[in-house]
Amino acid sequence: MAHIIAIANQKGGVGKTTTTISLAGALISHNKKVLVIDMDPQSNCAKSLGLDASLFNHSVYDVLVSNYDIYKAIKKTRIKDLDLLPSKVDLTILETKIKSKNPLLLLGKCIRNLDAYDYILIDTPPSFGFLQLSSLIASDEVIIPVQCECFALDAVSHMLATISNVQLHYNKNLKILGFLLTMYDSRLRLATEITIEIRKLFKEKTFVTQIPRNNSIVESQMVGIPITIYRPNSTGAQAYNALVKELNLDK
Ligand SMILES: Nc1ncnc2c1ncn2[C@@H]1O[C@H](COP(=O)(O)OP(=O)(O)OP(=O)(O)O)[C@@H](O)[C@H]1O
Ligand SMILES: [Mg+2]
Repeated sequence: MAHIIAIANQKGGVGKTTTTISLAGALISHNKKVLVIDMDPQSNCAKSLGLDASLFNHSVYDVLVSNYDIYKAIKKTRIKDLDLLPSKVDLTILETKIKSKNPLLLLGKCIRNLDAYDYILIDTPPSFGFLQLSSLIASDEVIIPVQCECFALDAVSHMLATISNVQLHYNKNLKILGFLLTMYDSRLRLATEITIEIRKLFKEKTFVTQIPRNNSIVESQMVGIPITIYRPNSTGAQAYNALVKELNLDK
């Protein structure tokens, strides 16, 4: 059975999609088969993999609303062993269209037994609500990217509250893998201060690895290839590879 990891923080622009795609790239370098599920109607996962989601006939929406065959909705990417279950803009109205008795549990049901993958990474949208909740309920673990800037701590405490809620009511096994400090720029005093603060408050729960601000990551997204494959020697790729090591996969 695949290991299911949600990448979540309701704060926008903190590096959720970048982490999803870069971690996927790092995992396939460790010979893992990976499925990325895009639960964000912005469809940025497809873009980051050089695909145009608007051209797909079917997406995660059809799987959840019309019981469409998930294997038919999953798209191959140009990277071997990395597949994508894309989203389209219709995901915004998903909640109103699902007919299932327990709509929040449906995503988990649909992906729990996908045995073609070692890892399933779920990219989530920058908001509280149905899409984020469904993703957390469907997951074994969650990684919380935190950008070292103003209001980062508020976002962290909101995420912790949401996760406690999910653990209490839906998925008691949901485990926080850790907070991942992203877009770290040591030249910015605020970044350093926030990093120190988060490490002080959540020592055990914060990854030692932190992701530096790195232009090669932005370039890799523009060409649609994960950073670990596009520029394996860049500081960004090295950081995401270090994250995989820290995850201690073969434990
Ligand atoms: N390590 C990095 N170095 C430089 N730029 C980065 C890095 N990580 C992310 N970015 C850039 O920051 C922006 C936000 O990143 P990303 O889209 O991954 O965040 P997000 O949390 O998924 O956003 P949203 O909440 O809108 O889904 C993007 O333009 C991305 O290219
Ligand atoms: Mg995103």
